[in-house]
Amino acid sequence: MFDKQIYKKRREKLRSKLNGGVALILGNSDVPMNYADNAYRFRQDSNFLYFFGLDQQNLAGVIDVDSGEDILFGDDFTLDDIIWMGPQPTVAERAQSAGVERTKAFGKLHEVVSEAVSKGRKVHFLPPYRAENKILLEKLLGIRPDEQQGKASVELIKAVVALRNIKDEGEVREIEKAVDTTALMHTTAMKMANPGVYEYEIAGVVEGIALSGGGRLAYPLILSIHGETLHNHSHHNKLREERLVIMDGGAETPMHYAADITRTFPVGGRFSQRQREIYEIVLKAKKEATRAIKPETPFRDIHMLAAGVIADGLKSLGIMKGDAGQAVEQGAHALFMPHGLGHMMGLDVHDMEDLGEDYVGYDDEIKRSTIFGTKALRLGRRLKPGFVLTVEPGIYFIPELVDRWEQENKFKEFINYEKVRTYLDFGGARLEDDILVTDEGFRVLGNPIPDKPEDVEKMMAAGKK
Ligand code: GLY
Ligand code: MN
Repeated sequence: MFDKQIYKKRREKLRSKLNGGVALILGNSDVPMNYADNAYRFRQDSNFLYFFGLDQQNLAGVIDVDSGEDILFGDDFTLDDIIWMGPQPTVAERAQSAGVERTKAFGKLHEVVSEAVSKGRKVHFLPPYRAENKILLEKLLGIRPDEQQGKASVELIKAVVALRNIKDEGEVREIEKAVDTTALMHTTAMKMANPGVYEYEIAGVVEGIALSGGGRLAYPLILSIHGETLHNHSHHNKLREERLVIMDGGAETPMHYAADITRTFPVGGRFSQRQREIYEIVLKAKKEATRAIKPETPFRDIHMLAAGVIADGLKSLGIMKGDAGQAVEQGAHALFMPHGLGHMMGLDVHDMEDLGEDYVGYDDEIKRSTIFGTKALRLGRRLKPGFVLTVEPGIYFIPELVDRWEQENKFKEFINYEKVRTYLDFGGARLEDDILVTDEGFRVLGNPIPDKPEDVEKMMAAGKK
């Protein structure tokens, strides 16, 4: 954890952003896989980690806006527990390490919340995403699970987003640590990507590297020769020549900060001419978009800039045609890049997606587009120093989408369907880096990971020695 002063300051700042009442920040509990004692690996709630830093099950925090008091709720382990688990700090000791003076048994949470409700005080809570916490909230507040999203405190959501969107130095260091572990995941995968190898063989080694960093994967690994499926989590294919591997994988540090990196590399270690042409366009989009990052620039504009590079590049190959600017404005490029250029990251790989993407990535000035492709952009707002975000352009040939658009005669003035058809066996290419917005512009986080085709080929050749 960070020093306790950090957590105290975060709670103070949160208080200063709320008008009154109490903020309820629930930690997570274990979720059984097949019986209660055989649980999925525990992952603490990111909001609880941000304000209390404690990475244990069955804790909750109350931040009282009016009295200035914080209370940690939890139960000490019994001797029976300790026989199985080993020595454990008491709840009071844990609270101390987070700078919290008062603790209460978990069962007292109901009393404290009920008292606040009975006095007409506002009980702020965040939208729950786990069944266990939905049930707990129903018990505490009498709000049915299906009504909890709508009744969560928008005031609290906005306050948390305002704080968590700006990363401090310690958080940036953590994300860089995650990126450096992730770099080894990617260079190792490049070295292993030979014909005849199964995707799961690489996936296992890559996940092992994340675990060796002391943490885990920040999200389920995407590693596939069918990168045209954007979030392809199955790893059953055998690698064969002529295919590109897309690996979108990131480690999470022991403190749960994420990296989110994508690289694309040719099975066997050499880009064919056709692969290289598409890859170079994606690389150019990544470079130009990254260079455009600076405070006050709307990320929506940077997304459009990257889309323009992709449309121009595809036009030069005869895949698109007509005016590239108009094509992008109308959304024709989305046949090839149906996703957004990037998103915020931090304690979550898609930071604070549980609180609502539009609160995180948009604001009163910049609203989400409704056009196919552009509407998938998670981040549109003006950039601020301290934001950490991804830049992740891609080009994909998705046969089902091409079929549909062609049947509908969609954007025939911008798309050369006859040429597109010759790419339907291509798959996809995506490149992704993690970027800090600085006062002057931007900084790519972590040590460089090969992205120029010749550097990727060199890395892959090193695996053959
Ligand atoms: N890393 C997967 C994504 O950004 O959606
Ligand atoms: Mn990403």
